[in-house]
Amino acid sequence: MATQQTREWTPSDWTDFVHTGPGTLAGQYMRQFWHPIMRTEDLPPGRAKPIKIMSEDLTLYRGETGTPHCVAFRCAHRGTQLSTGWVEGEDLRCFYHGWKYDGSGQCIEQPAEPEPFCGRIKIKSYPAEEYVGLIFVYIGGGQAPPMYRFPQLEDGKFLQLREFPVWPCSYWNRQENDPVHVAFVHREGPHGDIGLIEPPRVWAEETDYGMVVHEVTPGGIESMGHRLMPAMTQFIAPDGTQNVGWKVPIDDTHCIHPVVRAVPLKGDALEAYKTRRTNQWSRASLLEIGEGVLRGEIDLHDPSLRETTNIVNVQDYASMVAQGAIPDFEHEHLGKSDTSMIFWRKLWERELRSLAEGRPLTAWTQDIHLTSERHFTDRARGEVPTTLGLRV
Ligand code: FES
Ligand SMILES: [Fe+2]
Repeated sequence: MATQQTREWTPSDWTDFVHTGPGTLAGQYMRQFWHPIMRTEDLPPGRAKPIKIMSEDLTLYRGETGTPHCVAFRCAHRGTQLSTGWVEGEDLRCFYHGWKYDGSGQCIEQPAEPEPFCGRIKIKSYPAEEYVGLIFVYIGGGQAPPMYRFPQLEDGKFLQLREFPVWPCSYWNRQENDPVHVAFVHREGPHGDIGLIEPPRVWAEETDYGMVVHEVTPGGIESMGHRLMPAMTQFIAPDGTQNVGWKVPIDDTHCIHPVVRAVPLKGDALEAYKTRRTNQWSRASLLEIGEGVLRGEIDLHDPSLRETTNIVNVQDYASMVAQGAIPDFEHEHLGKSDTSMIFWRKLWERELRSLAEGRPLTAWTQDIHLTSERHFTDRARGEVPTTLGLRV
């Protein structure tokens, strides 16, 4: 494994979920899963691009047959960036002096060498696979686990994947975006003010895939959101779209959030949806407006802002990036409404501690098919459990 334990872990490592670079405990845990890093459409055959994931620089390229490959960032010769080179068949030739590598990282040509020593040169390589319009990499070393399977994303519905800009905050900021925020962060919605709404009561239970978060509004509407280990969300939106999203650390202070939406529409209705949901706003505008808001130059509550930008994204950006690139966890004051987040931290702590102590980790299911999630229940009118359903 790329991130072998190099020191004794301490209890502070069990609760450090943010740092995921090589040699960190959370990084070692995260490296046991596949992570999406780029949209299929952003890497045409014959193209190489630099990527960064969990503080590791790498090269992602697509062979001329369409197969994605992931190899080291730099050439073993004199260290130039391999993404500037040429894809030849399934191989990658360095731009500087033409050394050529296959998809396993093995050097197979050294054109300028009178006596090539390719057999001694191998750069690192990692498995790469495509699924539901995304290219995933597995950088944990050893045998990769099976690729995710989401039947609800495979049953012929239209899949929508928006661009996912890099946000200047840790992936943990976005992991902990909780259900209660909606009542405030999105109160001034794209279609007008929702006004002051009472936040839902929230509780969480452990599941085979991670955690289910139950919400009950004061009016008795219960809904659920699902968190899949290690850093995924899944929910069905009111319009029936199935949403699966991943939070992926680029480094400790930057992240992406790829989301796949399966849209249950056909014909004219689908065309109308596509027109409505295409990228109306560039990613530059989200970052520029979000930063303008945080600098105090743009008024987040100016109604005209909703005409010119994806206001929901700007609102999320303004709340989560504003926590700091890495939030100050030491000075938080958490309450009961933070239950789902506290619960998620407990699950993570349990897994990191098991990893640190060499005990078996929970084998999370990653093949789940949700059908219906938004409904009224009798329980919604009863007492909300206050205990955490953590399995010990
Ligand atoms: S640096 Fe790559 S071939 Fe020289
Ligand atoms: Fe939000």
